[in-house]
Amino acid sequence: MSDAKVVVLTGATRGLGRAMASRLMEEGHTVIGCGRSLSGIKELDSSCKSPHRFDCVDVANDSQVSAWAQSVIAQSGPPDLLLNNAATVNPNAPVWEVSADDFDSVIDVNIKGVANVLRHFVPSMVEQASGIIVNFSSGWGRSTSPEVGPYCATKWAIEGLTQSLAQELPDGMAAIPLNPGIINTELLQSCFGSGAAHYPDPEEWSHYAVPYILGIHPGHNGQSLSVTP
Ligand SMILES: NC(=O)c1ccc[n+]([C@@H]2O[C@H](COP(=O)([O-])OP(=O)(O)OC[C@H]3O[C@@H](n4cnc5c(N)ncnc54)[C@H](OP(=O)(O)O)[C@@H]3O)[C@@H](O)[C@H]2O)c1
Repeated sequence: MSDAKVVVLTGATRGLGRAMASRLMEEGHTVIGCGRSLSGIKELDSSCKSPHRFDCVDVANDSQVSAWAQSVIAQSGPPDLLLNNAATVNPNAPVWEVSADDFDSVIDVNIKGVANVLRHFVPSMVEQASGIIVNFSSGWGRSTSPEVGPYCATKWAIEGLTQSLAQELPDGMAAIPLNPGIINTELLQSCFGSGAAHYPDPEEWSHYAVPYILGIHPGHNGQSLSVTP
């Protein structure tokens, strides 16, 4: 296809990321993904051949992200679409009962992980004044609920970080915080328990979400967007 894109996607091993990877590849785009789980990356690697590429990378580790970005950009050039999808959630608890380790982990992945990916991929995009950056936010980046305070804090941060980034980009690019909706993934099951089953599964979600994401253009720069069925 003529408008085939190079898509860099964090958190490709499960949930929304895995479903987006499949759909994007089906539609002829090149997907370059990462996750921490070796089994998840092996599964992707064995079923999705070059030019697709999947690597074990912890986005919270700046050196790992740096090495990954250098290698990816050398192989495939700057991404046309950068999807900062990887995230985690604290085990449900009032803020004062969240352990320091659990709090750190949510901040390290959901905020610092996104910043690490931006740090190492965006310069190559800015150099070409081209590309779309989608940072996965949440309904909980624009509202709150009890027991997910650390997660809400990170997603509100993503809204702010992304709005600021949008003001820094050259014409021809866009950065947007995206609320994907409510989807039955491991992350949602952690928050909602069995109630997560009332929501669409990632594969179903990807049918309407991927076309929506592919339709994001420079005119959307700085807008807080939401995927709706
Ligand atoms: N599901 C929902 O209803 C919902 C609602 C609003 C927003 N969101 C947002 O949508 C995005 C995807 O969520 P999801 O529901 O698909 O979550 P999920 O099912 O828990 O999947 C999370 C993905 O992120 C990866 N990941 C986690 N920590 C990582 C790290 N340090 N480095 C690299 N990869 C990492 C995981 O892979 P590994 O375990 O292999 O590392 C996995 O592939 C997140 O940003 C989430 O906040 C989801």
